[in-house]
Amino acid sequence: MERFGGHYDTWTDNRIRWILDNFGERIFEGKSVLDIGGGSGHIARRVRELGARQVEVVEGRLSNIAEAPRDDAIAFTLANLERGLTTREPSYDIVLNLGTIYHLANWEPILIDSILRAREVVFIETEVIDSEVEYNRYVVEDTGGYDQAMSGVGSRPSEFEIDRLLARIPNAFGHKVLDPALNAEFHRYDWENALDGHVEDGLRRFWAVQRLSQLDAVGERAAADALLREIHYSKTLETLVLTRRAQHELERKLDKVLELLTAAGSWAPSAVS
Ligand SMILES: C[S@@+](CC[C@H](N)C(=O)[O-])C[C@H]1O[C@@H](n2cnc3c(N)ncnc32)[C@H](O)[C@@H]1O
Repeated sequence: MERFGGHYDTWTDNRIRWILDNFGERIFEGKSVLDIGGGSGHIARRVRELGARQVEVVEGRLSNIAEAPRDDAIAFTLANLERGLTTREPSYDIVLNLGTIYHLANWEPILIDSILRAREVVFIETEVIDSEVEYNRYVVEDTGGYDQAMSGVGSRPSEFEIDRLLARIPNAFGHKVLDPALNAEFHRYDWENALDGHVEDGLRRFWAVQRLSQLDAVGERAAADALLREIHYSKTLETLVLTRRAQHELERKLDKVLELLTAAGSWAPSAVS
C-alpha cells in the first residue's frame, strides 16, 4: 500500500479543512511552514497547493523521505525527534505538529520547541490517555511499520498535561478543540472524558496555539529552557516511579500464582523465606 494513503486521506482532508474553516481559506498563502514528523510530505503537498511559499518537513525515516515526489519548495530534514527538534530555520510562520508526539518517548521538548519555532500559529494533534493523574503512558509500538515510533516506544500524554505545559510556554495562547468536524474514521476528537486511564487507537485531541508578539525572545528562550530542565528532572524521577510500579505489579502477580498453587496443594508456603 502507498505510504500515508488509505486512512490518511480523509484524516488529512478533515484536519486541513478544519484549519481553513477556522483560520481562513488563505491561511497558508505565501507562508513558510514547518511540518514535524511529516512522513513523505502528504500534508506538505496540501499546504503547498494552498499557496505556502516554502515547507520544511522534519522526518526520521529515510525510506519515507525517499518516497516523496520532488518539489523545490518542499525541503526534507532527516532528524531523530527523540534528540530534539532540528530545523534549517530558526522560525516559521506556521508550524504543524500533527500525529507525531505520541510516537516519541521524549515528546515534551518537541511540543515546546514546536511552539517556539512559530511566529503565528501552531497546530498540535496527538493520541492521548484519558486520565488526569497519569500524565503519560509509555506504549510499545511496532517498529516494522513506516509511521510508528522509530524507537519502538511511544507515549500517550494526558491532554491535561499538555494543557499544563501549554500554559507555561511564554507568548503562546493554546486553545483545545473538541470539534466533531475533525473526526475521521477511527480518529476521534470530540469524545467525553471517562478519566479511567484508558488508551485506544484514535483517541485524540487537537490544539490551536496562537503566538503572541515576541517582545523578549531571549527571555522567552530562558523560560522555555527552565521548563525543559524541569521536565528532564521529572523524567528521571519518572524512571524510578515506573520501575517501582512494575516491581509492585510483578509482586502482586507472583502472590496470586503462589496463592493458587497453595490452594491446589502443590505448594507449601513455609518453603518460601
Ligand atoms: C503517524 S505519522 C504522522 C504523519 C503526519 N504528520 C500526519 O499527521 O499525517 C508519524 C510520523 O512520525 C515519524 N517518526 C516516528 N518516530 C520518529 C522519530 N523518532 N524521529 C522522527 N520522526 C519520527 C514517522 O516516521 C511518521 O512519518
